[in-house]
Amino acid sequence: MDTTPALDDIGACVFDAYGTLFDVTAAAAQCRDDLGDKAGPLAVLWRTKQLEYTWLRSLMDEYVDFRQVTGDGLDYAMATLGIGGDVRARLMDLYMRLDAYGEVKDVLGGLKAAGIKTAILSNGAPAMLEAAVKNAGIDDLLDDVLSVDAIGVYKPHPRVYQLAVDGLGLAAGRICFMSSNAWDVSGAANFGFRVVWVNRFGQQRERLPGAHEHEISTLAELPALLGL
Ligand code: 2OP
Repeated sequence: MDTTPALDDIGACVFDAYGTLFDVTAAAAQCRDDLGDKAGPLAVLWRTKQLEYTWLRSLMDEYVDFRQVTGDGLDYAMATLGIGGDVRARLMDLYMRLDAYGEVKDVLGGLKAAGIKTAILSNGAPAMLEAAVKNAGIDDLLDDVLSVDAIGVYKPHPRVYQLAVDGLGLAAGRICFMSSNAWDVSGAANFGFRVVWVNRFGQQRERLPGAHEHEISTLAELPALLGL
């Protein structure tokens, strides 16, 4: 019987942050008392515009950090939905401390116990990622936290994924990359990572270059792919 893991010869597991480790809808959900039935639509439109602005600013070569883009996306979403008042400050503060998904801490702990390097590779600004990682209590479970802020361009530009190759000192084919964002999955696979799509929301794959090797619905399914 072949006991080779589905993902063999992996030197590090690298994780996208927002949507993969951290729940990007948590901020709006915690403000439901202010937002009422607009909480859901706000979370969706806010995330959509935040990502659109990262792509458009990269194409325009007009980089600003993810905190600025997150605020700009929130302003667009609040204006569109007719939401005013001081809930903005509360939403932005909560965004700095998003809940981690339930399985994250145990999965990272299991990878560390197995001697596998772990890292985040994210659009997030360094201060945002530091706050999120500390809030989730996973700072001692990560060997590195890599932000696009180091190069001033957003995912899925190949230079972003190169940050992990350079930072970890590993060839792309030895890096296993996890993201819930299907467009990030395409970008990472097209770059040359071994990619696992964490399809938390049952979405369709993107019609883009780059194919993931495995699809899981939560990170709890990852250790088995690594033979752990
Ligand atoms: C991240 O880079 C794509 O927003 C996602 O964390």
